[in-house]
Amino acid sequence: MDKILTIDGPSASGKGSLTRAIAIALNFKVLDSGLLYRAYAYFYEKGVTTDHISKKIQGLSFRFNSGDVQVFDDVKEITSLLRSENTAKAASALSSQKETRKNLLDIQRSFYNGNGLVADGRDMGTVVFPNARLKIFLTASSEVRAKRRHIELQNRGQEVNMRDLIEDIEERDLRDRTRTLSPLIPAEDSIVIDSSSLSLDEVLSFTKKLAKKEFDK
Ligand code: C5P
Repeated sequence: MDKILTIDGPSASGKGSLTRAIAIALNFKVLDSGLLYRAYAYFYEKGVTTDHISKKIQGLSFRFNSGDVQVFDDVKEITSLLRSENTAKAASALSSQKETRKNLLDIQRSFYNGNGLVADGRDMGTVVFPNARLKIFLTASSEVRAKRRHIELQNRGQEVNMRDLIEDIEERDLRDRTRTLSPLIPAEDSIVIDSSSLSLDEVLSFTKKLAKKEFDK
């Protein structure tokens, strides 16, 4: 079994915050696979052909800054561009294509070097790291998730209408859940946490207990 903690779940379920906090607590590396799908969409929209996108993504620099990640394309910081709802929509549409998933598989796996890794996404426990030692599936109601995403976007200086946000989130979830390739489903051996009425601290302390049991063996 690999020294990996996978955290899968729908958008804005709190995966990102949990991933960053637990990675700091365990001193594990982070893979934010959604960001790679967003980078894929970013290059695709810029007109880069799909057989060149992997190289472009490998050329990006990811800088970890007090738990958050900043992405640079050469000297240009593209973090907010990648985090925008438009890029999310484009990423969601491209992510159902076989070629996209195939192009990103090895890049995602290359984040694991034998030391601890927390991998955040939709199919980390089912497809990318099926041998992960601990798998969590984090979910929450769509209203709660839309509220959280609203706050997150506001903090990033982006204003979006709440109703549009709920619609976008539900549309994206439906597409992620019902696609044929790597659909968003909990791995059979995952622990499902519904965080609708839990704070990040509560989810974090529960996850820490599970991780301690698994990784301190
Ligand atoms: O997690 P995030 O919202 O950044 O992901 C953006 C999109 O990328 C998702 O809506 C999903 O369609 C896709 N994705 C995926 N598989 C992953 C991570 C993200 O299909 N492992």
